[in-house]
Amino acid sequence: MMKGTYTETLKKVMKYLKNHRKLLWLSLFFALVTTAAALYVPIVVGRAIDDIKGAGSVDFDAIKKKLIAVMVLVFISAVSNWFMNLVNNRLTYNTIHDIRKDAIDKLQKLPMNYFDTTQTGDVVSRVISDVDLFADGLLLGFSKLFTSIITVIGTLFFLLMISPFICGLVVVLTPVSFLIAGFIAKNTHSMFIATSRTNAEETAYIDEMIGNAKLVRAYGYEDRAVNHFSEINTRLKKYAMRATFFSSLVNPSTRFLNNIIYALVGLLGAFACVKGNMSIGELTVVLSYSTQYAKPFNEISGVITELTGALASAGRIFEVLEAEEEIPDAVGAKVLENPSGNVEIKNVFFSYDKSKKLIENFSLSVKPGQMIAIVGPTGCGKTTFINLLMRFYDVDDGKISVDDEEIRRLTRKSLRAGYGMVLQDTGSLPEQ
Ligand SMILES: Nc1ncnc2c1ncn2[C@@H]1O[C@H](COP(=O)(O)OP(=O)(O)OP(=O)(O)O)[C@@H](O)[C@H]1O
Ligand SMILES: [Mg+2]
Repeated sequence: MMKGTYTETLKKVMKYLKNHRKLLWLSLFFALVTTAAALYVPIVVGRAIDDIKGAGSVDFDAIKKKLIAVMVLVFISAVSNWFMNLVNNRLTYNTIHDIRKDAIDKLQKLPMNYFDTTQTGDVVSRVISDVDLFADGLLLGFSKLFTSIITVIGTLFFLLMISPFICGLVVVLTPVSFLIAGFIAKNTHSMFIATSRTNAEETAYIDEMIGNAKLVRAYGYEDRAVNHFSEINTRLKKYAMRATFFSSLVNPSTRFLNNIIYALVGLLGAFACVKGNMSIGELTVVLSYSTQYAKPFNEISGVITELTGALASAGRIFEVLEAEEEIPDAVGAKVLENPSGNVEIKNVFFSYDKSKKLIENFSLSVKPGQMIAIVGPTGCGKTTFINLLMRFYDVDDGKISVDDEEIRRLTRKSLRAGYGMVLQDTGSLPEQ
C-alpha cells in the first residue's frame, strides 16, 4: 500500500462517502430493521409454542395472532432487506461514478513524466478493477459487517433474557470452533499463496513461450520448453490439491463442533424445562439462537478479508488521485495565435534523471519557413527535444521562445496547437 496506513486511507474514503451521507444512513437504517425483525421471529414462535399447553388446552386465537405477527415480521425483514440492497447499489454505483470521473479528470492534469514512469496497464487496472473492488468490497462489506454485529448483539441480548447460563455456554464454546477454523485456515493460507504464486509463474511462462514462439522454434527449444512447463504444471497441481484438501476440512470440523454445542444447549435446556425453569417455547428460541449465533462470526471474518482488500485497492486509487499535477499555466499566460514559426532555443539544459546529463547548453535559432532536420544516434535526445518544444517537460535551464515569447509564458494548449506533430510510434503519445 501507499504511504499512509489503513486508517488514513479509511479517512479519505469517508470523505468520498460524505457526498452520499444520506444513502449511507439509509443503508444502516434498513440493515437495522432487517436484522431486528428477523431476530424477533424466533421469540414470537416460542411464545406461540407456549400457547400449546397440552391436549385440549390450545389457545388457537393467541396462536393465530402470533403467526400473523411472524408473517408481518418476515415481510418487514424481506422488504427492508430489498430496500437495503437498493440503497447499497445506488451508493456503490454513485461512488464508482465519482471516483472514475475524478480519476480521469486527474489523469488529464498529470505531467508527461507520470505517464513515462508508470505502466499503462497499472493505471488502467487502478481506475477499472481497483475501483470496482473498492466499491463492492467496502460498501457491501460495511453493510454486512453492520448486520453481523447487530445480529450478534441482538442474539446475545435475547439469550441472556431467557437463560444466562446457556448464553454463557454459547459465548464460551462458539469461539472454539473459530480457533479450529483459524488453525486450519492458517495452514491452508500458505498453500493458497503457493498456488497463486505457481499460477502466476505458469501464466508468465505460457505468455513467454507463446509471445516468443518464433524464437522457440528458431533455436529448437521446443522440448525444453515443454519439460519446463510440465514441471511448473505438476507443482501447481500439487499445491492446488493440498490447498483444497485443507480448506475442505474447515467446514466439516466447525460444523461438527457447532452440532455438539447445539446438542449441549438442547440437553441443558431440556433439563431446565423439566425443572420448570424454562418453557418449551423458550427452549426453541434458545436452540434457534444458538445455531445462528456462529453465522455472523463467519461472515465477519469474510468481511474483514474483503475490507482489507478493498482498502488496499482504495490506497492504489488514491495514489492516482493524489499524484502531483502538472504545474498550472503561468498567471496571465498568453494565448499563442497564428504563430509565424520563429523558434529560438538558447542555452538549454535538460535531463530526466538529474544524475544523468542529457541535453547540455543547446542553442538553435529557426526562422519562419526554414526546414530543419534533427539527426543523431538513438538515445541522443531527439524525442526529448520535441518533449521540450511541446512542453511535455520543462527545461532545467535556458530558454525556449516561440515568436519571441518564452514558451513558459504561453498557455500549454495554444502552444501545443501551434505544432504539427506526427508520432513515431502510432498510438503512444510521448514518443516521436
Ligand atoms: N521519460 C523518460 N524518463 C527518463 N529517461 C528518458 C525518458 N525518455 C527518454 N529517456 C532517456 O533519455 C535519453 C534520450 O532519449 P530520446 O528518446 O530523446 O532519444 P532519441 O534521440 O529520440 O532516440 P531514438 O532515435 O531511439 O528515438 C535516452 O537515454 C533515454 O533512455
Ligand atoms: Mg525518439
